[in-house]
Amino acid sequence: MTENINFILNSALISTLIDPTITLLDFIREDRKLTGTKTGCREGDCGACTVLAGIYSGGTLTYKTVNSCLLPLGNIKGQHIVTIEGLSTEEISPVQKAFIEEGASQCGFCTPGFIVSLTGYLLSGGSSDRDKALDSIGGNICRCTGYSSIKRAADKVVKIFNSESYSGKTDIESLINTGLLPGYFKDIPARLAELQEKPQRVRAETDKFIGGGTDLYVQQPGKLREIRTEFLKGHIPETIDSEGGICRIGGGTTFEAMNSSPLLHSLFPEIEKYFRLIASLPIRNSATIGGNIVNASPIGDTTIIFLALDAWVELNSGTKKRTLPLKELYTGYKTLKIEKGEYLEYIGFYIPTGKYAFNFEKVSKRSHLDIASVNSAAFFEYSEGVITNARISAGGVSPVPLFLSKSSEFLAGKAISYETLSNTLGIMQTEILPISDVRGSGEYKRLLLNQLCKAHFISMFPEIIKEEALL
Ligand SMILES: Cc1cc2nc3c(=O)[nH]c(=O)nc-3n(C[C@H](O)[C@H](O)[C@H](O)COP(=O)(O)OP(=O)(O)OC[C@H]3O[C@@H](n4cnc5c(N)ncnc54)[C@H](O)[C@@H]3O)c2cc1C
Ligand code: FES
Ligand code: FES
Repeated sequence: MTENINFILNSALISTLIDPTITLLDFIREDRKLTGTKTGCREGDCGACTVLAGIYSGGTLTYKTVNSCLLPLGNIKGQHIVTIEGLSTEEISPVQKAFIEEGASQCGFCTPGFIVSLTGYLLSGGSSDRDKALDSIGGNICRCTGYSSIKRAADKVVKIFNSESYSGKTDIESLINTGLLPGYFKDIPARLAELQEKPQRVRAETDKFIGGGTDLYVQQPGKLREIRTEFLKGHIPETIDSEGGICRIGGGTTFEAMNSSPLLHSLFPEIEKYFRLIASLPIRNSATIGGNIVNASPIGDTTIIFLALDAWVELNSGTKKRTLPLKELYTGYKTLKIEKGEYLEYIGFYIPTGKYAFNFEKVSKRSHLDIASVNSAAFFEYSEGVITNARISAGGVSPVPLFLSKSSEFLAGKAISYETLSNTLGIMQTEILPISDVRGSGEYKRLLLNQLCKAHFISMFPEIIKEEALL
């Protein structure tokens, strides 16, 4: 199947009739011979293929880093794609200069990915936050230089852009003036405005929906060329709204859009801490909530978060809409009550009122860019030292993302105390059935969940539950 795809690649307008399931990486390297973007793992793990995607919406252009190895052409319609070649300026850019001065490149294979990621950090408004600068390169791996010099280069970039001559300005015009971006960027918003297409209805007569592609393109990239596919991007909501005490998040909303949502920040002030534990920035820029819930992984991080919020999913088949509690969606390992042709349009939850606490914990083999061995979320409402309503969820301890109904029921009406915590741990163990696999033995996962539950209590009620007392 071919489709007409229009986008801007660096300064060139691309208008081509092509199979939309082909990855951007293959198109860039094989069709356009732009080989500065490297092929590494093809699984979103190394960052060698990182490019910038400029998305024009509501008159505003925003740039994000994405892994081109997991990005189908069908998802980049009307965007500005920037490879390392498209960042070429008359002189080397301040980011490239920092890498040279700090000796942050040896064989050079990973370097385009790092330069693109740090440029993306500046383009997305970053300037003074060192942690965010480091997070922006959290998805880039270097096999030979060593990370100290790369971190020094990143530090230098942060310092340069906060110096008097740059004064933290990271709008496109200022970045062109500083030599970070070539001049053609100035015309991109007007050029993209002409490329925008009207959203169309989702075609339900499909074999496979494609969301961000970050799961599908790791699992079965070849197969997608042989079946009928339907791209959801641009066709399903990507909004986060509140109305009538309900928060609704569109199925096409990316992890990073949730991470930066003012509404979700106001409800869950620690949200950035949770999302730091999830994937890398380029993956979070593509991965959607719909994909996380429908791929039905027992350790899907946002699935676990929304289970503790007692969320529901709103499904649409094109002719019929229905709503289902998230905790009733899964029937077994990777099986769920979604009919062929139904897509997840929204996920919703009641906005908590009164006194409440929320926490998410995750343990994985690596602290960053790794899937969980065990993860868990907890949402407690309480008043005067007593839990009035509780919901706990856990991943990696059963074939499905699990809502711990017995533990949650037990907690309602109990005092916030060491005794309540200890009794909850006992009940929890009766609700789970973890298996031994590469992520740890069943016994280890049981122990992990106990520790994560203790962490919930310590984090949510630091005045009452002290870490030292639980050692
Ligand atoms: C390097 C890397 C790191 C990762 N780290 C994490 C992590 O830390 N935590 C984590 O939870 N996940 C992680 N993932 C997994 C993945 O990114 C997430 O599960 C993501 O949410 C999938 O969303 P997507 O939009 O990319 O889904 P896709 O790959 O597009 O689709 C996944 C499945 O969902 C279906 N689908 C997608 N959207 C919808 C919809 N709206 N309605 C109906 N069906 C739909 C597709 O048909 C497909 O079956 C990681 C992946 C990679 C490659
Ligand atoms: S090739 Fe490794 S992240 Fe894309
Ligand atoms: S410089 Fe060789 S892999 Fe990073």
